[in-house]
Amino acid sequence: MRIAATADLHFSPQSYDRIREQMNRVRDEADLLILAGDLTNYGRPQEMESLLNALVRIRVPIVAVLGNHDYESDQQEELMRMMTAEGVKVLDGTGYERDGVGFAGTKGFIGGFGRGVLTAFGEREIKTFVQAAIDEALKLERALSQLRVEKRIVVLHYSPIASTVKGEAPEIFPYLGTSRLAEVVDRHGADLVVHGHAHHGTPDGVTVGGIPVHNVALGLLQAHQPPCAYRIFDV
Ligand SMILES: [Fe+2]
Ligand SMILES: [Fe+2]
Repeated sequence: MRIAATADLHFSPQSYDRIREQMNRVRDEADLLILAGDLTNYGRPQEMESLLNALVRIRVPIVAVLGNHDYESDQQEELMRMMTAEGVKVLDGTGYERDGVGFAGTKGFIGGFGRGVLTAFGEREIKTFVQAAIDEALKLERALSQLRVEKRIVVLHYSPIASTVKGEAPEIFPYLGTSRLAEVVDRHGADLVVHGHAHHGTPDGVTVGGIPVHNVALGLLQAHQPPCAYRIFDV
């Protein structure tokens, strides 16, 4: 299967105009399109409606997770309902199989990497924050355990490793993802992970367990020469 993957469209009609032509070609190059979160800027249903109007034209199966921007208006449930109604497979701690390939997806969360992972100690507020990261890791675990096929793609918004956020200011690394997600990926195994969120990160990295991780944030893809709207992966 040939999979196209992108993230962080942060949809507006003007910004989509820059990639519309390429997006309309995705069908010729891939069997399926992954959208790894931050589909909108403010998580408003009107933004999602405009984006879906554009996406139905590309006539390719779409698998998506939401990103932090899609939660901004606290209308994420409505956004997911709208996407599902248009045939987009939204993953939120769930797995999906198509043509022998499994997709396990969730938004993920922040909290830092490696020795810098924030732990649940001290104030209740810290524990609540850390619990949100643990909950997302558990959702990913549940999604992966639902898959019955050998080929597995993990879809996240936040990064599971530090190396694909390099390029961003080091001060904000802990807000770009958490290796709690990578621990789950390594435990369950996967062919590859795609994520977004780190618009100025690094395209490719690998987990401690050796699983390839790809940052497909649109900003990064557009900085590429020649600029592209998505990356293609053969699985
Ligand atoms: Fe983003
Ligand atoms: Fe984001």
